[in-house]
Parts: sequence; C-alpha cells; structure tokens
Amino acid sequence: MVKFAASLMCANYLNIEEDIKKLDKAKIDYFHIDIMDGHYVPNLAMNLNMIEQLKEITNTPMDIHLMVDNPEYYIKKLANLKVEYVSFHFSVSNYPLRLIDSFKEEGIKIGIAINPVENLDSIKYLLPELDYINIMSVEPGFFGQKFIKSVLEKIIILKKTINKKKLCIPIEVDGNINEENAKLCIEKGAEILVLGSSSIFKRGQDLYETCCTFKNYINN
Ligand code: DX5
Ligand code: ZN
Repeated sequence: MVKFAASLMCANYLNIEEDIKKLDKAKIDYFHIDIMDGHYVPNLAMNLNMIEQLKEITNTPMDIHLMVDNPEYYIKKLANLKVEYVSFHFSVSNYPLRLIDSFKEEGIKIGIAINPVENLDSIKYLLPELDYINIMSVEPGFFGQKFIKSVLEKIIILKKTINKKKLCIPIEVDGNINEENAKLCIEKGAEILVLGSSSIFKRGQDLYETCCTFKNYINN
C-alpha cells in the first residue's frame, strides 16, 4: 500500500488548523514539513515554531525535509519536538554518516534527500544506515514546479540496489506528484508520495475530498 505525506508548505497558512483536521480525517500517513534556510535553497518555508504548534493539534507522524546548509543545528531541536522522520541533503555534509548517527541517537528515523541531477553512486554506501530515501523529482526550494522525468530511471536503479542489498528502505518521491506522475513513480518502486500543490492543495476543491479521491485513485 502506497503511503502519502502531505507537504504543508503548500497548505493554507492562514487556516492551517483546518487543513490539518481535514487531512487527518482523510487519514494522511505523514505531514511533510519543508524547512529551508535561504542558503541551501533561495527560499524559506516552514520553521521550528510551526512544528511545535502543529504537534499540539495532530499526532500524525512528521516527515521533516531539511533543505539547509547545516543539518546539525536541527538535531537536538527536532528531537525535542519529537518529530519522527528527518531527511537532509547529503551534499551539504563532509561527514554524512556521523550526521546520520547523531539523528538516530535521538531516536529519529533518518533519510537522505537526493536532487534530480545527483547520482546514486554518492549515496550507495549510506544506504544500509538509512530508514528511507527522499528522491527529489523537482529541484529543491519551491512548490508548483514541473516533474523531472529522468528521476524515474533513478527510482528503478535505486529499487534494484535496495533489493540486491536486501535492505528495507522505502523510496519517497518529492515534487509535482499528480495522478500521472504518481502511477509512474509507483510502477518504478516508490512507496511514499509527497502530496503538494499538484495533487491536493491549490486545486480549489475541498481538501478532505481531494485527498480521499487522490488516495483512492492511487491505491485502488
Ligand atoms: C520542494 C519541496 C516539496 C514541495 C512539493 O522543495 O521539497 O515538498 O513542497 O510541492 P509540489 O508537489 O507542488 O511540487
Ligand atoms: Zn520536501
């Protein structure tokens, strides 16, 4: 069964509590929370205060996507907020294994995010240490971008590698997931889809209905 992570940077910030309630009613699996520092990507998105407040209104697990130059700054802060999943971009660190261990010591399930142009060779030695992989299907930093089809081949290769190494690491795909792209990603081996502006938010329809319809279309 494919799992779904709603990307809250696409939510209605002026009434995010209502969005959270509708997504929880639609039984979303995770909330995907993009944190940006304006350096690794030229944008800012959500922040630690928002996570703290969101944690007061939902028990749905949080999938934090760090698009920052210094993931180490967030280890203790995210641990204190009791977030469940964190992915960071491996290219920001000269010592990704040490970073992975630091997050895991805090009980956090850790993933690596890999950009569309980055190849898998750079992370194959990290795979045994990971709980999941975030394959970016758009360049990081903004919602509403176009799906980069070449990542489909990357998903196939990654899935084969995971199976060959007998690892159990779900592949998450993040960026411009719509009905067509979702089916393609699943076909190639993706198991978690990030639902953003193209799938459930910004469609001008009721978020609960849209989320249920999208989930049913994919899983049935
Ligand atoms: C982009 C973020 C994605 C984005 C997804 O840097 O990592 O999570 O918000 O939104 P859409 O689906 O609109 O690309
Ligand atoms: Zn993201």
